[in-house]
Amino acid sequence: MNILPLPARLEPLPGAFQLTGDTLIYTDEANRLNAGYLQQHLTLPTGFAFLIQPEIDTALGIHLRINPALAHLGTEGYHLLASPRVVILEAPTPTGVFYAIQSLRQLLPASIEYKQRMSGEDWRIPTVEIYDQPRFSWRGFMLDEGRHFQGKEAVLQTLELMALQKLNVFHWHLTEDQGWRIQINAYPRLTEVGSHRPGTSRGLLGKQDGIPHTGFYTQADVREIVAYAAARHITVVPEIEFPGHSLAALASYPELSCTGGPFQVATHFGIFPDIYCAGKDSTFTFLQNVLDEVFELFPSPYIHIGGDEAPKKRWKACPDCQRRIRQEDLKDEHALQIYFTNRILKYLSQRGRRAIGWNQILDAGLARDAVVQYWLGSRQPLLQAIREDQRQVVMSSFLDAYLDHSYSLTPLSRAYRYEPVPAELDDAQSACILGLEFPLWSEHLRSRRRLDYQAYPRLSAMAETAWTPKAQKDLGSFRQRLVHFLERLGIMGVSFASLEEAQPSRLKQAFGIFTIFVPQTKISVK
Ligand code: ACM
Ligand code: ZN
Repeated sequence: MNILPLPARLEPLPGAFQLTGDTLIYTDEANRLNAGYLQQHLTLPTGFAFLIQPEIDTALGIHLRINPALAHLGTEGYHLLASPRVVILEAPTPTGVFYAIQSLRQLLPASIEYKQRMSGEDWRIPTVEIYDQPRFSWRGFMLDEGRHFQGKEAVLQTLELMALQKLNVFHWHLTEDQGWRIQINAYPRLTEVGSHRPGTSRGLLGKQDGIPHTGFYTQADVREIVAYAAARHITVVPEIEFPGHSLAALASYPELSCTGGPFQVATHFGIFPDIYCAGKDSTFTFLQNVLDEVFELFPSPYIHIGGDEAPKKRWKACPDCQRRIRQEDLKDEHALQIYFTNRILKYLSQRGRRAIGWNQILDAGLARDAVVQYWLGSRQPLLQAIREDQRQVVMSSFLDAYLDHSYSLTPLSRAYRYEPVPAELDDAQSACILGLEFPLWSEHLRSRRRLDYQAYPRLSAMAETAWTPKAQKDLGSFRQRLVHFLERLGIMGVSFASLEEAQPSRLKQAFGIFTIFVPQTKISVK
């Protein structure tokens, strides 16, 4: 049994369930979509029809059903029973049944992942009983498309791979200094101007940047991606970043800045001084109008608002920002960022949404309902906010969880050992940790191959931390199951890093920190 992430409770039984041309899928109404998903996956490689029938308790075959008696497994837990006569996938919710399907998929031979008919395979499910539920409710993967646009096919494949690993939050970083990647009807220049990263002959790191790059998602693309994610029980949390990392928006609409511009979409990686002006009311009108379209596209209860790395240089010199500081009786420019954040948070909350932002938004006076995503800096303010305000937190520690790092800096074993709950917290306080997320920043991500290589197999290690009870995690067991899992990924066309590459020597690890600044150019894809 090579299920990854490892289920909470699994008991192998003697025997096997054989898939044949006569195997039927029985489902209740609530699991019709799940049944269609399962049917499609099984039919392509086996060539069997797997006709879908209304649920009949006693029939031989595969059963998908809601079972309210399993409420103790929570909204994502499930029970899977494979016997020689029936396979039962049941849960209190369709989400749980979907995760049972993902476990079932991994009980079958890896060739079940082929999209064409495979003859001569033995399609057997080993008999087993599983009771399973996740450790964390927020099991996220972040893709930055601001630096490099990956395109719809790469995103759909990413979502399918997330589903396979029971990850449930796709944090989609869509706006950056280097590119604005989502069509907004009220502001066409955001994509007409902001989606083009110009070329330049002198990049910050020589040949590593300065290559022109273009791309954005239409609203129709976004709808398709969000629906595809929803069918896989994944919430898409869009990030519309402010006040910093906003040069692509300012290049499109320079009047949103303190100085009036003109600006160019950033050609290289970095932190840039020009950010949205916090003094002009037109900035708030702009962001609210953008968010109105974002609300229409994304049903997510959470909207990510960024908030990291916002230099205060322009605000210090801007008459509008300084007037705002006086009028609102604010202490300084840091308090002005809190004012800015809270004003947008209020707008979100009036429309039934909650904000999540990087941990730089955590400062005195931040509205209570904002979730904080920790990535870098002292953990003391975070711990204090958890203890005093029950602040909810998602963990993405820079050295452990960033997938854009080289394998020298963050090897597979380090990714696997990452424990997101700070040891200083007691059990009640630990409940404030909603979960964890693995960011993949894209400055050096110019191809799908590279995306896969950075993510796999580290994302699989992190998925196990997000799902499996802490006491059951074991690196040796993970490595064994991973070998089978990678075979599956290979069939799915994923260009993962080899295990040797993912686990470099101590010497390479010692120098790994330098690889943050010197991008890797060589990859050896398995
Ligand atoms: C970040 O990595 N700047 C959130
Ligand atoms: Zn200003």
